[in-house]
Amino acid sequence: MGKIVAANWKMNLRRESARALAAALAAQGRRCWLFPAHVLLPVTAQAVQGSSLKLGAQDLSPSEDGAFTGDVSGEMLADAGCELVLVGHSERRHGHGEDDALLLRKLQRAMAAGLKPLLCVGETAAQRSAGQAREVVAGQLIVLEKLETARRRGLCAVAYEPVWAIGTGANATAAQVQEMHRHARAVLETLGLGALPVLYGGSVNPANAGELLACPAVDGLLVGGAGLKLDSLSAIDDAALKA
Ligand code: 13P
Repeated sequence: MGKIVAANWKMNLRRESARALAAALAAQGRRCWLFPAHVLLPVTAQAVQGSSLKLGAQDLSPSEDGAFTGDVSGEMLADAGCELVLVGHSERRHGHGEDDALLLRKLQRAMAAGLKPLLCVGETAAQRSAGQAREVVAGQLIVLEKLETARRRGLCAVAYEPVWAIGTGANATAAQVQEMHRHARAVLETLGLGALPVLYGGSVNPANAGELLACPAVDGLLVGGAGLKLDSLSAIDDAALKA
């Protein structure tokens, strides 16, 4: 069956490079989840049409259509061909000061628009040094308690992405990942979400993917930089297919 591989393209690529990458992945019959920047959604949607790839956005507005300059609504993303949407990526939490109350509104809006959110959680280096990693991640997940049970089941996955491992080349060790995923799973079980996939993200590459995927508590990977090139993303997906 294999494990999940999701690629967060962040603020990278152009229409032609996004189209070519998505088309090549589609031609290889891959089942990855792709998260391009908003303006690259139409061209990527076209490339993934009829394939086993899934399309998602990196963020959405907490509001419905209206006077919100610069925002993009969940309905617009669904109309552009998205099935999924990231919520709570650390670059939104820490780079844009998004707090749990705002993220809850985004989760609610995503579900109202028929999108399946992928909620990202993870502690900073300072929080880990202070021994707070488990508490921080539990707190970020417990937000889901405020959603009705039927709504909660609309999530597609949770991603554990320790902030200190994102874009640093220093991935969390398999032991750290296994411990945090088991912890996240225990919290999700209290919310009736024991079956929800838990992905790991943070400096994943073809060299470390196999070891991370071998952790029983890892249901897949959320890849940043290594998801921008066909060779590296394909190699990671090959490892996930074998896992
Ligand atoms: P990197 O793989 O570049 O560290 O990014 C991880 C990430 O933030 C995926 O959402």
